Amino acid sequence: MTATPPQQRPAPGHTAPGHTAPGRRAADPSSAGTPAQRRIPAAAKVAAGDLVDVAMTVNGTDVTVSVPARMHLADVLREHLGLTGTHLGCEHGVCGMCTVLVDGDAARACLLFAVQCEGAEVTTVEGLGTADDQHPLQQAFSAHHGLQCGFCTPGMLMSGYDLLTNGPEGTAVAPEELPEQMSGVICRCTGYRGILAAVADVAAEHPDGLPGPRNCASRTLVGRGGARPADAGSAEGGPDAGPAVPEEVRIPAGAPSATVSVRSELSSDVASVWNVIDDFDLLARCLPGAELVEILDESRYRGRATIALGPVKLRFEGLAQVVEREPAEHRLNVLAQGADAGGSATRAVIRLRVEPGADGGSVLVADADLHLSGRIAQFGRALAGDVSRRLFEQFGRSVDEAARTGQAPDATSTGPSPLRMAAGATLDTLRSAALRIRARVWGRARARRARR
Ligand code: FES
Ligand code: FES
Repeated sequence: MTATPPQQRPAPGHTAPGHTAPGRRAADPSSAGTPAQRRIPAAAKVAAGDLVDVAMTVNGTDVTVSVPARMHLADVLREHLGLTGTHLGCEHGVCGMCTVLVDGDAARACLLFAVQCEGAEVTTVEGLGTADDQHPLQQAFSAHHGLQCGFCTPGMLMSGYDLLTNGPEGTAVAPEELPEQMSGVICRCTGYRGILAAVADVAAEHPDGLPGPRNCASRTLVGRGGARPADAGSAEGGPDAGPAVPEEVRIPAGAPSATVSVRSELSSDVASVWNVIDDFDLLARCLPGAELVEILDESRYRGRATIALGPVKLRFEGLAQVVEREPAEHRLNVLAQGADAGGSATRAVIRLRVEPGADGGSVLVADADLHLSGRIAQFGRALAGDVSRRLFEQFGRSVDEAARTGQAPDATSTGPSPLRMAAGATLDTLRSAALRIRARVWGRARARRARR
């Protein structure tokens, strides 16, 4: 496909002063003018690193974040609210990747301090539509192959949205003007042709105005980068007492980092296994490396879990919250959230179910959606999933023993430790990587021999 680089000249303005129009370099955030900037009282001076509470509405959800005064909006969206759709390219207002809507107008999120957005209404690409209910712009980008690597796509979508909503002629923008009007976002894949065709298509299909964002509703927004939301609670004992234990578990709205589904065939009958599942103390002692620290109330439990992955040892302090207990169906749903002092954090939705099995036994079905952030997220989806699967398999064996004996299993007799299981998972991953590399090398050698 032949690329059509857009012109890099300033385009006719179609947004409010201080915001970033497509085809236009972003305004200096220190200059007066944007609605967000006008909200800051002149006397409200803080040091750059001081934490400031900022209340705003993001994709229809009211949030308050406690962030350093120097933190820009894009980092707050990504790190504190988990909205990683807003991409960062240059952080200088040049590339347009970080374009979002602030009070309805396109703005460079890398050039706005979050504190300037106090009271503002922010819409990110996540607010535009969902996978099942895409905005017409998203559908058109897909239909016209306007996505190559996808890095510029959020900026292009939000810029296109602003152009067709706030442009001088609304959706009546002429196709020949689009290269200039959309030139505020730079596509490194040079895939402009499909992108411009998509915007032109949507402009033609909606002569009476562009439909609004389709995914702006109240939901839980939490960070994925180890950052804690302002209301996460605090650990007792001051700042050195380790990671904060939250009051309640909050699961990010986005897709999980890994999903695990394990079926363990147990020799014990359904009722005995359910008795273990229903006894949270016993249940916790069946989970390798886990320890129940405090029962807060009938559905919330404070605990800790230790896991070692090669040289990395993580000690999570956190909360488990039973959100559904169905004795008649032998079903238990638990949310869990933990963080370690090194900045790793994990959140999980865990669903346990006991079903009748063969020969009077039972089947323990465990499904988990895992949201990982910080150092632990660097291990990769496959390894995280593999370690978790092994933990659940071990958990199944321990539950079986506890169901038979009525006692918490002895850690030394229940099989491999979390450390050994994690090491095994690491070795398996390395082994399969080595096999892949060996197959590739052999394949190349065979091809060389065939050419001779
Ligand atoms: S990251 Fe904001 S304009 Fe490049
Ligand atoms: S699609 Fe790759 S940067 Fe535009």
